[in-house]
Amino acid sequence: MAVVAPERRAWGATALLNVTHIDAPAPPGAAAGDLLVFVVNAGDPSATTVTAPGGVTEVMGRNAFGTRIGYIFATECTGPSQVVRFELSDPTPVHVATMAIRTTSDPAALTVGTIWERSGSSNQIKAPAVTVTEPGALVLGVLFEASNASEKETDVAWSGLDRWFFSRQTAGPETVAVHYVDNAAAGLTSEVNATYLNASSIGMGVQLIIPAAPGGATPPPSAAYAMISGQQHNALRIGGKTSDAPTVYAVARPVGGGAPVTTPPVVPAPSGWVSVKVTGLDAGRTYDVDLVSTGQVLATARGETFGLSPEPFKVVTGSCQANNSDPAVFDQMATDGAAFFHHQGDLHYRDTQDESTWRAGVDIAFSTPRMRSFIAGTPVYYRWDNHDWGGSVTYRDSPIGAIAPPAIRELFGNDFPHSKALYQSWTHRGIRFVDTDQWTLRDQAVTTPETDNLTGKSMWGAEQRAWFFQTLLDSTEPLIVWFSSFPLYSNLIGGGRWGNYRHEVSIIQAFFDEHPEIRSRLVAVGGDSHSVCADDGGNAMWGIPSLNASPFSQAGGLTSGVWNIANLDVDDSRGYYSRLSFDYTATDVEFTWEAVQDDGTVMADWTNAYPIDWSDEAPPFPDLTPEVTVWNGTTEREARITVWDGAAEVTVAAVESAP
Ligand SMILES: [Fe+2]
Repeated sequence: MAVVAPERRAWGATALLNVTHIDAPAPPGAAAGDLLVFVVNAGDPSATTVTAPGGVTEVMGRNAFGTRIGYIFATECTGPSQVVRFELSDPTPVHVATMAIRTTSDPAALTVGTIWERSGSSNQIKAPAVTVTEPGALVLGVLFEASNASEKETDVAWSGLDRWFFSRQTAGPETVAVHYVDNAAAGLTSEVNATYLNASSIGMGVQLIIPAAPGGATPPPSAAYAMISGQQHNALRIGGKTSDAPTVYAVARPVGGGAPVTTPPVVPAPSGWVSVKVTGLDAGRTYDVDLVSTGQVLATARGETFGLSPEPFKVVTGSCQANNSDPAVFDQMATDGAAFFHHQGDLHYRDTQDESTWRAGVDIAFSTPRMRSFIAGTPVYYRWDNHDWGGSVTYRDSPIGAIAPPAIRELFGNDFPHSKALYQSWTHRGIRFVDTDQWTLRDQAVTTPETDNLTGKSMWGAEQRAWFFQTLLDSTEPLIVWFSSFPLYSNLIGGGRWGNYRHEVSIIQAFFDEHPEIRSRLVAVGGDSHSVCADDGGNAMWGIPSLNASPFSQAGGLTSGVWNIANLDVDDSRGYYSRLSFDYTATDVEFTWEAVQDDGTVMADWTNAYPIDWSDEAPPFPDLTPEVTVWNGTTEREARITVWDGAAEVTVAAVESAP
């Protein structure tokens, strides 16, 4: 097995003036098991010392250079939210540059070479070459400098090793620059030489060796996040982002006990994204599903298979999550115990058609602490909107159309009825859900000359539109919830929304005019507008109730058009979502929509009852949860038949008749 070289993953920096302690967070993108390396550059007013907390290794001890001191520390990262506090013996400016490196190397295995220092009136700083004994090491050339506040990366010329980053002071009068050689050959590295335009009179440099993984070991497999998706009545998927996992499999363990179901192994995509489908499960039952690689559980996610019996349940949905945010709204949504969560797009605001940037946006959104925790306990549906698809001017033939559709299937599986678009439909406990895709198949929205009334112009594509109509025609459920993404604006706004596709709007209008029995059973729940806006169908397009609450984390504003339930300009600093509740009585299903703020406050709500005609169909049958049960006409009873096999009690048969 080949030696795996340590890999540079991420860096970040913190600087403060005149403090006696400084908190250095793990840089965004760091993961548990990474090596964190801290370069501390501080003032030296009075034989100042820097002390690290327990468990943090001092790799390079105090080194004074002129009026400054430098240290290097390292520790194993415990997780992305880790913060390490360094104490200073005197109030002084301090700058900590933190690097995350994926490696199995122990902090104690790091070594530094000869330390170079300069005082005097030159602006040259160097880090002397070091000798690498084991090939495959990562070598970092670290330059410490006391400079003036206008120092910029472009003011610094260097040679010797490639530059990883130049961290300019934001408060303290220090900079830290780091150079590197990946997968170093055995032998002497190059010296780093740098010329600072605005340097003051002192500086220091040293090279640091992070050895190749010991004994040729590979890093252990890990998962940055995992979630249940693709719920069916007898199947679940677990999807996630893995690293260093050659194969993974899933184990679904029924909550409350029962036999686990294990899948064959599958190979994650080169990106690390994977979706494992577990089949042969019971309807309406909750499972803890482990994602496993090389015998290690990488992550566990909980979710329920879809149920057949008409019992109460909840659904949560919304949209619009700013880059690098981890909004509190996910903690609130986790308390609802929803059957599933539908993220209706703007998972990130990268507006990019570059594949690696787009994938990074997805990974950062799902792996931030609150969302990662929320999706580990609530199954996820996801369909993009403009910002996480490629930007508002993109359409069917844009570059993102070749990138995002196959990529997202690595993470969510490929049970969609279309090969590229994300539209789909499912039922849970007697309610029909329909999700439409507004971006993957669209014609260009905004054109010169304007084409808003052009015959044949389509947002959905003819195939999706036919599927939508047929799905509604085939639906026998008393209530159909359509995840519409856009609010159904009474004033038919453009900007990529339905106002740019007026011929298609008229086709949909004709369908609902012909089928009032469908319209009366349909509600549209969306987001996108960064506001709470709701209408009972009196004003909304097509006469359909349109119920919308967003954003998770974005600036908001009042929505245009007429809304007869609510139209609220929400607080820019808070998050909002829709909570849908379904409650059965003997004669109807009562549907409640609530717009919920991230502290649990209900900002708006609407309730409507949908009659059920049981005579049309078989009476509801319960979801039998244990492996062996009987239904006696009123209640479900456990009725296990077991034998003693000499070592354990073993269930051998089901009971076929009611007692
Ligand atoms: Fe948005």
